[in-house]
Amino acid sequence: MQIIVLGRETELCIAEAEVVFGNVRKISDEIAEIQTDQIEDINRLGGAIKLARVAYAEVANIAEIQIKIEELLQAANTGTKLNFGLSYYGKASINLSALGIKIKKSLQKIDLKPRLVLPKANNQLNAASVKHNKLLTKGIEILIIEDGSRYIIATTYGVQDIDAYSKRDYEKPCRDRKVGMLPPKLSQIMINLTRPDRDTIIVDPFCGSGGLLMEASLMGLKSQGSDLQKDMIDCASKNSSWFAENFDNTASISIGIAEDALTRDYPTSKYSIVTEGFLGRNFLSKPTKMLIKEQFPELKELYLSFFKHLLLQPTKPTKVCVCMPFWLPGDEIVRLNIIDEICNLGYTKSEFTSVRQSNLSYHREGQFTGRQIIIFETK
Ligand SMILES: C[S@@+](CC[C@H](N)C(=O)[O-])C[C@H]1O[C@@H](n2cnc3c(N)ncnc32)[C@H](O)[C@@H]1O
Repeated sequence: MQIIVLGRETELCIAEAEVVFGNVRKISDEIAEIQTDQIEDINRLGGAIKLARVAYAEVANIAEIQIKIEELLQAANTGTKLNFGLSYYGKASINLSALGIKIKKSLQKIDLKPRLVLPKANNQLNAASVKHNKLLTKGIEILIIEDGSRYIIATTYGVQDIDAYSKRDYEKPCRDRKVGMLPPKLSQIMINLTRPDRDTIIVDPFCGSGGLLMEASLMGLKSQGSDLQKDMIDCASKNSSWFAENFDNTASISIGIAEDALTRDYPTSKYSIVTEGFLGRNFLSKPTKMLIKEQFPELKELYLSFFKHLLLQPTKPTKVCVCMPFWLPGDEIVRLNIIDEICNLGYTKSEFTSVRQSNLSYHREGQFTGRQIIIFETK
């Protein structure tokens, strides 16, 4: 069994975990449990902050937690100084510092030399502390997780590489804030949600600055992008060269000419579409419902024509995962409501067992436009 420490968009992270690992049990908004021991490279998952192996599943109380952690540390002891970090995920109050000190003293009595690493805030070591204290390479991070009236103890084996994500997000040479850019983690989640196999080409026909194509490449997949705007094609090409120099010199990213997604030809070999389509106006201040709805005819026409066009291709896409806009002009959510119309064209929505597809969305605090993530397959 394993534990995933989930990213901010809990439902999306759980959907991704379900696709990658199978059965998922949500323990809290930040923790999910997966049944399999299958080890995954955390750099291929957009929705996992940490991956950990469960060492003990049903620990009764704090005294037993201490005993179990001491057992783990004795087993991990290599004769040299061992860094051990503690993180706690739960609502019950646990004094991590007191627990850590007790463990340390108890181990010193049997001549072990543990070095305790504690979180600076809110009981959880962040990715930077785990990395900085070499807890994955020369130490151990132990997670204590409240699970109903019991606790789970797990040891971390993967931590999200936040530096690499932020480099790809913020340091690529061409960034166009006006069109909005898909965050790398969300790109990875969307790609995973289509369950691509090694032969599937990931196609983004609204590729903008090309971030999604780079994520697909890092996940070992071929990717192909196009965009209506010539300047976006130039932007994506520039970013793709930067990506090859900085991350993956074997990258197989193909960026085509400026083309309309609604009329271009799609690959004749196996492919899936993963894309953030046009999201409408970039509202910098709170829009009225009227302003939002003024865009509906244009947006509906764009999406419906796009989905119709895909069905006319000699090879239809295996999956189509799109971000569609929704708006938050106040307390309520305004949606385009075209999913049923898309299904009527000849698509079905992919469903998940652990989450409702309609809950798969991404929204940043303070923004008036959010993204709903929908996965379709052709009938
Ligand atoms: C929201 S942006 C995508 C941003 C992209 N995901 C990124 O990370 O940079 C939408 C893109 O769709 C393009 N676009 C709009 N209508 C299009 C069409 N009919 N065919 C192809 N591209 C189109 C725009 O030029 C824009 O680059």
